[in-house]
Amino acid sequence: MYRPNTTSCAALGTDPISHLTFLIRHPGRQIALRRALERVVRQGWVVLDAGCGALGLLAIMAAKLGAARAVGVDLGDLQIARLLAKENGVADRVDFVEGDLRHAPIPVQRCDLLVSMIYRNHPGLDRPQHQLVQRLVERHAHAATVVIPSEVHYSATGYAHAWPHLERRWLSARRTLTALHARAAAAWSSQANRRTAWAQHLVEVERQAGISLSAIRPLIDRSRLLPPTTPIARPRSWGPVGLAPPPGLKALTQPHRFATIDGSSRSGASSYPESVALAVVRPGRMNAVLWRQDLLFDDIVIRRTESLDLVNGARRVAPKNRVILSIRSNGRDGVPMSVEPGVAGGSASSPWSP
Ligand SMILES: C[S@@+](CC[C@H](N)C(=O)[O-])C[C@H]1O[C@@H](n2cnc3c(N)ncnc32)[C@H](O)[C@@H]1O
Repeated sequence: MYRPNTTSCAALGTDPISHLTFLIRHPGRQIALRRALERVVRQGWVVLDAGCGALGLLAIMAAKLGAARAVGVDLGDLQIARLLAKENGVADRVDFVEGDLRHAPIPVQRCDLLVSMIYRNHPGLDRPQHQLVQRLVERHAHAATVVIPSEVHYSATGYAHAWPHLERRWLSARRTLTALHARAAAAWSSQANRRTAWAQHLVEVERQAGISLSAIRPLIDRSRLLPPTTPIARPRSWGPVGLAPPPGLKALTQPHRFATIDGSSRSGASSYPESVALAVVRPGRMNAVLWRQDLLFDDIVIRRTESLDLVNGARRVAPKNRVILSIRSNGRDGVPMSVEPGVAGGSASSPWSP
């Protein structure tokens, strides 16, 4: 299925090179997170970086900004994160814990800042992540704890997609092309050139994060890495107003925001709906839904992602119909959809109970 920049967070942070590649590909996110940390972190604070990634960057940034203690937790090996904390002179104030946030012992009782960049950028896949953040808030927040992201928004738009099945084929062709391109690029460029390209990207990430990343260099030098970005593999970039739709997509509904989750709320995940109802404004065969997720900290947009899923039970719809889409689905097998004759006005239905 066509997924512009929806990439699994869980897979992304757990090894140093994947984490670095992620940072290279999303510089805006990195810069936004730094701005957010610079705005909130105060001398003496205790910070919990939930899902810190193999590089533990945000915990280290928080310590450099004056936190008395920062704890980073992630599923993968955090040896490189520890080396980076040392390199940046904050090893005495930063701890890294390898484990699952759901049950790993976290060596802080209450934190002043909880950073929870663990979302998977898809409403179906994010449900357990919201539950987890809610649990972390219950366990580790006090009344004034700041949470980043402070808000997570989800919206949906119904589409008629002219070539959904061709798109599947195009995607698989694109994957093959990407692999071929990467192999050709590797063949043409010497290992030395590739190392230089990585080193340049590394300097850029260091500049954005304001921390030094020399401990990663030996990994880059040792491995036979392909360039971190190839023209084809590069994710499509979206404008500030959202998707530049690929040809063949026609919007049949208005975009509708169906969830606004307050990061610091102890009941945030409970307001995550089971389904979303969209009011049809244009006739057509609705067979696709575009999900959008916005991760925000106050007025700072940390990241905006969009992903398109096919729906199960595609059918013709007309203005005044309401389509109901399930948010339980992970999108892989199509999003269950039903149509009601209905009236105008999108809404979310039946709150989810934990
Ligand atoms: C996109 S990465 C973010 C890394 C880093 N915080 C950053 O912003 O650059 C998300 C991280 O959350 C971690 N994560 C997701 N669910 C987790 C869980 N249940 N326990 C521990 N880590 C988790 C993943 O392993 C991944 O490294």
